[in-house]
This record gives sequence, C-alpha cells and structure tokens, in this order.
Amino acid sequence: MRIAMIGTGYVGLVSGACFADFGHQVCCIDKDGSKIDGLNAGVMPIWEPGLEALVKSNAERGRLTFTTSLPDGVKDADAVFIAVGTPARRGDGHADLTFVFEAVRELAKFIKPGTVVVTKSTVPVGTGDRIEEILGEEGVTGVSVASNPEFLREGAAIADFKHPDRIVVGAEDEQAQDALKEIYRPLFLNRAPILFTGRRTAELTKYAANAFLAVKISFINEIADLCEAVDADVQDVARGIGLDNRIGPKFLHAGPGYGGSCFPKDTLALLQTADKFGVGQRIVRTTVEVNDERKAGMVERVANALGGELKGKRVAVLGLAFKPNTDDMRDAPSIPIVNALIERGAEVSAFDPVAHEQAAKIFSGIEFAADAYAAAANADALVIVTEWDEFRALDLDKVAGSLRGKVLVDLRNVYDRAEAEQAGLTYYGVGRGRLERN
Ligand code: UGA
Repeated sequence: MRIAMIGTGYVGLVSGACFADFGHQVCCIDKDGSKIDGLNAGVMPIWEPGLEALVKSNAERGRLTFTTSLPDGVKDADAVFIAVGTPARRGDGHADLTFVFEAVRELAKFIKPGTVVVTKSTVPVGTGDRIEEILGEEGVTGVSVASNPEFLREGAAIADFKHPDRIVVGAEDEQAQDALKEIYRPLFLNRAPILFTGRRTAELTKYAANAFLAVKISFINEIADLCEAVDADVQDVARGIGLDNRIGPKFLHAGPGYGGSCFPKDTLALLQTADKFGVGQRIVRTTVEVNDERKAGMVERVANALGGELKGKRVAVLGLAFKPNTDDMRDAPSIPIVNALIERGAEVSAFDPVAHEQAAKIFSGIEFAADAYAAAANADALVIVTEWDEFRALDLDKVAGSLRGKVLVDLRNVYDRAEAEQAGLTYYGVGRGRLERN
C-alpha cells in the first residue's frame, strides 16, 4: 500500500516507520522544514528507543521518505493518515483541531478517488463526520474517512505498535475497512485482534481507554493516601487486587500523579465532549481534580521530609521527564515540584538521563548535574521523581555519602525502606506505611 502520513510527531513518525517496516511505501509529510531535513539526514526530532534504527533502515530501503510537500506525498496514496497535533486549547481544554482541518482542506486538492483518509491523531467524537463534510465542501468524491486511534506509549512506542493488544478501526464503508485490513495485514497474520466499529465509536474508544487508565492511577494514588493513614502498604494492596484478572496488575503504581501529552489532555477533552452533550462523567471529572491536586501537592512531601522548611535547603531531583525512556516534559510531575521548590527558596540540582535539553526550556535557576551522584552532592534530600532504570540500582551507601542531609523521598517507590535505612537514609515512599508528618 502507498501511505501518506501527515505530521511527524510521536504518533506520525512511529506509525510511518512501522508501516514502512511492514513493507508499505510510506511518505511522511511535515510543514516543519528543519524536521524534514533532519529526518532525511537521519536525525530524530524525538528521543524514542529503537526509532532511529527503524527509520534509517527503512529509509535506506527506499520504503520511507520525508517531504514538506503535501501534494507529492498525497497524490498517489491509497491511504492518507492524519497524525498532526491536537493540543488542548488554552483555557477550555477543547482539543484544537485547526491543524487537522487545515490538513484536510489542503489534501482535498490532491487526493484521488478511492483513497481513504484516516485520523490517527486523538480527535473528539464527530471529527470524522466533519472531515467528510469538509471533503464534500471541497468537491471531493469517492474518498472514505476512517478512524484508527493509536494506543502506543512513549518509550515503548515501537513495541506497542508492532505487538498491539488490539487495533481499532472505525469505518463506515467497505472501501475504508478493506484498506485498513490490508495495511494491518502483517499484524492480522500475527493474530492481533482487529476491532471494526463505527467511526464515532472508534473515536470515543480512544478517549475511554485513556480516561480509564487515568482513573486507575488516581484510584491507586488515593488508596496510597489511605495506606499512609492506616499503616498499610500500597504496593501489596496493588498486587493483592491486581492478581484478580478482572482488575489486572497494570497502571496501579502509586506515584506523583500522571503527566505526559495524553492523559491530562485527553481526560479534559472527554469532559468537554460530555459537557457539550450534557452528560455527567463525574468519575473522570474527579480523576482530573485528584490528579491536579496530587501533582500540586507533591512538594509538601519534600518539605515535610525536611522538617517543613525549604528555604536554604538544597534538593537533588532525579528524573524530570514525565516518565522513563522519553525526553518529553509535557505536564511532567517534575514541573510543579521543581517550580515550587525554587519558589519556596530551595536550591535544586537535577539529573535526567535524556531530558536536560527539554527541561532547560522550562526551568530557570536549577543546576543540571552530570549523574545521580553528582546531583546528590551536598543536598539535604534526594527526591526520585521519574523511575528511570538507572535510578533503580543506585549505590545507596554512595548516595548517602554524597548527601548532606540523609533523606530519600522516593515518589516512585523504587526502593525498599529497609535497604534505604541500612544505608543510613531516612526513607519516605508513597503509600508505604504510616507517614510521619512534621
Ligand atoms: C498513554 C497510554 O498509555 C497509551 O496507550 C496511549 O496511546 C497514549 O497515552 C496516547 O494517548 O497517545 P503515555 O502518555 O505515553 O501513553 O504514557 P503512560 O505510560 O500511559 O504513562 C502516563 C502517565 O501515567 C505517566 O506520567 C506515568 O508515570 C503515569 N503512571 C502510569 C502512573 O503514575 N502509574 C501507573 O501505574 C502507570
């Protein structure tokens, strides 16, 4: 199949490279000339494990090309995927569809009958209908519109794409269904479940999936608070409930609240849709509130561990990206924590394996250390904010030796209290027994 992929962000670039790897002929299109120049020279605009090798090998085989020219990419395509950004609009949380609709108006000039236009960006229910209308307004005929939401996680995007739990295709006619069946045939042969639904259902499925995962996280975070009050251990509670197949063990890690480019934005967009149709959605609404408060309140845990006062204290922060294996800082829990530390008069030395460049755009007045131990040097407390693998096996004796104050605030429950205490550290986890508040 000949595929045009409009937008080379996370979803577009990973999907484009993986489709090419399936053997399709893929042309990735982006308006950002420097991004396209970079990609043509083998420079990735994002940090994602395995992506560079995948892009390079498929580009070398001539199956994956990059261009700023929409006409070149679209004119011979069998399917045109739209994977442009849909940022939350400032103020109201609506998904901003400007880029999607601009792309549709533009592609309408070059698309040939028989082509399928597929939304891969996360778009509100009814966007496919609107795209169909726009194509009609532009005089396009014989083109189908489908929805094929993406469920990949940053940091594990390629594995998620190639071994999906399921593929969801929302299509209203056979032309669209057949095209997507053909595109996903390699996964079909691998027995990945493909679910064909109506277009609106597919659009909503994406929001429902992310909202449900967000609910799970906020749920376990509130249970963690309860654990701290009643002297129970949230890790064991999560295991105890997660072994029940009906609940499942995943997304039950208590921590500083969820961040990233998806959960915060998609939960808000779901609520906007609910408001538009006058439907409650109280569970998701509460989840958003719980998460916002949690992230804003995390700095108190550091303050409490340091006796209540942050002024004049030096705090080492490990992990800035919103999760491991990415340099993405969008809505990262580190942002409110670091900003509040600075506002309240603390010095911050931070280390993240890959996110310093992105973080430097957000924070001012923090020091970036060369590694975890350098960050810990002379600090009053070490705070683990993101659970990068390399923070899981720190030499705690060495950490304790570098620290001025012997305090470990482990917001990801990476360490056991006993091993931290053995190294002479006072340990504060999340939801692991009674929390002594100062
Ligand atoms: C999420 C979904 O997991 C993907 O399926 C979806 O395709 C993607 O959004 C999207 O809509 O594009 P992502 O945002 O990359 O993927 O990251 P996750 O691994 O889901 O983590 C999101 C946040 O939840 C992170 O801040 C993470 O630390 C937090 N989290 C996750 C927890 O606090 N506890 C958990 O148990 C799991």
